[in-house]
Amino acid sequence: MPSLFLETAIRHFDRALRTVAGVPDEQAESRPSPALDLPAPGGPGPGSGQARHIGRLMRVNYAGEVAAQGLYLGQSLTARTSEVADKMDQAAREEQDHLNWCSERMAASGVPASRLNPLWLAGSVTMGAVAGLAGDRWSLGFVAETERQVMRHLQGHLEQVPDNDPRSRAVLEQMYLDERHHAEWAEEGGGRRLPFPVRTGMRLTSKFLTVGSYWI
Ligand SMILES: [Fe+2]
Ligand SMILES: [Fe+2]
Repeated sequence: MPSLFLETAIRHFDRALRTVAGVPDEQAESRPSPALDLPAPGGPGPGSGQARHIGRLMRVNYAGEVAAQGLYLGQSLTARTSEVADKMDQAAREEQDHLNWCSERMAASGVPASRLNPLWLAGSVTMGAVAGLAGDRWSLGFVAETERQVMRHLQGHLEQVPDNDPRSRAVLEQMYLDERHHAEWAEEGGGRRLPFPVRTGMRLTSKFLTVGSYWI
């Protein structure tokens, strides 16, 4: 039903804009941060090279989550069935937690959000819409591939965050588990494996996002 699609799309759009503006969505799921109750990072404090590096890694992850909101928005706009549009909506709500947790870790390191966030949002809405137009099974395949790539990326970050920062590590570990869960539902929902050139294009695009949001 078109009105249902429109309603879902408006909800996504509202949520996506909030991510860029840094305004939380009150209706979003909110699990407490896995960092809660863990000891504060040891070693050099805020302002140190280590804190800045970790803060920037979390800024990259925040930017990735902004892009995720954009993808879900684009995909929901062009989804063929309300079932898939609903699934995208649910996943987007769950991803809100990741935004909140990354934002907390960035703030703890004194690192501001990437100034390129509006660009990531606009680009990812477009990519998501294209994926949705290709059909629901391709769209779910796109979710699965995105999540698999994010999992590898998070593993790379876990190798860089030392044990003396248990809070950032806990956030990354929980995000890894959540992304795996998203990849699995997309695969179980009938997601098709994307062709090699598409997967490569996605990897290059995310490289652009990770380098860009680390520095800007
Ligand atoms: Fe996420
Ligand atoms: Fe995810």
